[in-house]
Amino acid sequence: MINRRAMLFSTAALVGATGTRWALANAPPSFDAATAVIAPDASSGQYTFEIAERMTSLPCFGGQSLPLWTFAPGQAFPIVRLKHGQPFKAAVRNALTRPGEDVTIHWHGLRIPNREDGVPYLTQAPIKPGEVGAYSFTPPETGTFFFHTHCNSVEHFGRGLFGAMIVEGDETEPSDTDLVLMMKDWRLDPNNQFLSFTSLEAAAKAGSYGTVRAINGVTKPVYQVPGSANVRVRFLNVDPSRISEIGIEGADAAIIAVDGNGCDPIPLGTWRMGPASRIDILMRSPKSGSTARLMDYFSPEPIVLAEFTSNETSMREDAFTPAPLMRMPYKIADRSNAERIPFAFSSTATGQAMADLGALMGNIPIGKLCLSKKSLWAINKQSWASTDHSDSGPALAALQLGKSYIFELHNQTPHSHPIHIHGHTFEVMGSSLRTAPPHRADTVLLRPKERLEVAIVADNPGNWMFHCHILEHQESGMMGYVSVS
Ligand code: C2O
Ligand code: CU
Repeated sequence: MINRRAMLFSTAALVGATGTRWALANAPPSFDAATAVIAPDASSGQYTFEIAERMTSLPCFGGQSLPLWTFAPGQAFPIVRLKHGQPFKAAVRNALTRPGEDVTIHWHGLRIPNREDGVPYLTQAPIKPGEVGAYSFTPPETGTFFFHTHCNSVEHFGRGLFGAMIVEGDETEPSDTDLVLMMKDWRLDPNNQFLSFTSLEAAAKAGSYGTVRAINGVTKPVYQVPGSANVRVRFLNVDPSRISEIGIEGADAAIIAVDGNGCDPIPLGTWRMGPASRIDILMRSPKSGSTARLMDYFSPEPIVLAEFTSNETSMREDAFTPAPLMRMPYKIADRSNAERIPFAFSSTATGQAMADLGALMGNIPIGKLCLSKKSLWAINKQSWASTDHSDSGPALAALQLGKSYIFELHNQTPHSHPIHIHGHTFEVMGSSLRTAPPHRADTVLLRPKERLEVAIVADNPGNWMFHCHILEHQESGMMGYVSVS
């Protein structure tokens, strides 16, 4: 249960830290504690995370409490909101009790120094149960980011251990409301208990999907928004596996940022995005009393992810012309002199055999066969060898500091792969299957059999993970790193 002190704390933090009004029409009162802007310690300015198992009742759990792993008592999915230029400091205590359940925190999408990147062994020693670690950096860019552990990620995400980091200060014209929507489904059986987070068969295919769909722990939440207002919706796909195709019905909307990076506003038809991708949507909410819907069109039946109901205030009368966000001063890749590096994403022979076997065996769980799930997938024929990152092997590529590169990403499989690079962002170029409006991204969704080119300036020294963000693919081999020096 969520205790009263925690509720008071997070409600106060909500109002105090942002001034943003969160209103949720159909959720029980405990909801505010489920996703809340968290505040640092007033005197030290430091955030404190204590990662532990806590019985938590999210609205989408049908009245059950489940053993979530969370960052603080009384809340899941915390939101850190910073102003651009504001330093961030956190102490992280690992209070998990399972032996060997290490943690490190990765600040996904933030181009911070390598030693703060939160990858066990590669950038830091893992924080073992009972130990405390520390992070300290100043986010160099504005945007919508998130954070998560980089150890045993399938289970850690499955138990809800992630949060959002918002770096404010990019609006050239202030929006009227700013909402953070984290999409993460839950694998529950009919009695609302956790199903296993993975199976070998699913890992060899598209990954294990949740059975209960949810935004911020609520199935189809209804947000109260002002009427005819410019509503900024920061939508994060933080699901371990699910590909979504996002659209809005009942309101005009445009994408104003991809993975936190401001772009020329892209009128929102639909936008396909995989795990770890984020879009910032600016929506003109409908007139008072009407409702707009956030949709996922990827599933066989389109589903309503969330609703926005306009209240009686009416904010604006002008035509909806979304203002572009401020652009951060990125180095732009010198494409004509860039060196090209091919990266092939494939399944291994074992992975192929598992997928075939799964099809043959129907419902029999492959796990029963006691096969190792270590190397189902590969990048350039290299499979990451260990699930705990302790054996990293050689770099997939050695990049020279300051130089421009074009990565030729080739998906040789019939599955989608959201490919993520740490510490850098990609300029998304052309694809063999589609045209994309110009944008930057730290995670690009490779469609089945697609060839996609991205340009990158290797401007951040260190060893940087480069992997698929379908977490079962990442943990079964589709992971590597590039060095920049
Ligand atoms: Cu969210 Cu290594 O990634
Ligand atoms: Cu993948």
